Amino acid sequence: MRFDILTLFPEMTDSIFSYSIISRAMSQNLIEIHSHNIRDYSTDKHRRVDDTPYGGGMGMLMSPQPIFDCHKAVKGGRENVRTIYMSPQGTVFNHQKALELREYDNIIILCGHYEGVDQRVIDEIVDEEISIGDYVLTGGELAAAVVVDAVARLCEGVLSDKECYEKESIAGGLLEYPQYTRPFDFHGLTVPEVLNSGHHANIELWRLERAVEKTLRVRPDLIENGTFDKKTLKVIERIKKEYENQQ
Ligand code: ADE
Repeated sequence: MRFDILTLFPEMTDSIFSYSIISRAMSQNLIEIHSHNIRDYSTDKHRRVDDTPYGGGMGMLMSPQPIFDCHKAVKGGRENVRTIYMSPQGTVFNHQKALELREYDNIIILCGHYEGVDQRVIDEIVDEEISIGDYVLTGGELAAAVVVDAVARLCEGVLSDKECYEKESIAGGLLEYPQYTRPFDFHGLTVPEVLNSGHHANIELWRLERAVEKTLRVRPDLIENGTFDKKTLKVIERIKKEYENQQ
């Protein structure tokens, strides 16, 4: 999987990916991430990349020419490419979207700045607009990094064990159960006894119960909209009843 990030601040995205799991995946050639400076493609004699909006209004817009040329040069003749524009106007990113994006060979991500980009860019070269949430960032770089990270970790070999992402929070439809490591007693706060019991079935049930409890409390929408196996459904019903009895 290859990611290309079109940005006015390539140092920003490069630095984010120079650590930990993503950096290791790049050195093992499991993924490629390239940042491209849109300004390098400006034909303006002052290398300008922005201008005022037609019709008036606040702020500056990114001009189409440098973006079109940068995109053309980066995309080349490649196929199975998806071009995404990071924008608060897009559909909201989630795990399902990350799974969908993993199917492309190449993802090109355009990062906006100022008041956004000329609409002709969106109409002509962008396949979809993606937002990372209902708030406005100063630019698309952090949002692009979120998408690249979430998709890259789903690529073959990036995480050592597939279970890492198949069983985890959200992917499994529930939030995660609480986890503990040594010491057993920290400042008088001890680890739940069951986790030290060695009884695997009890541990599994305890974890499922805690995951259901947490999800019902924090993200009831995940339970309402999710599909679960029989065992999980039984636990959901039992814990819901316990809640009702408490009220
Ligand atoms: N650019 C600015 N705000 C954004 C957001 N919420 N998501 C994606 N890109 C953005």
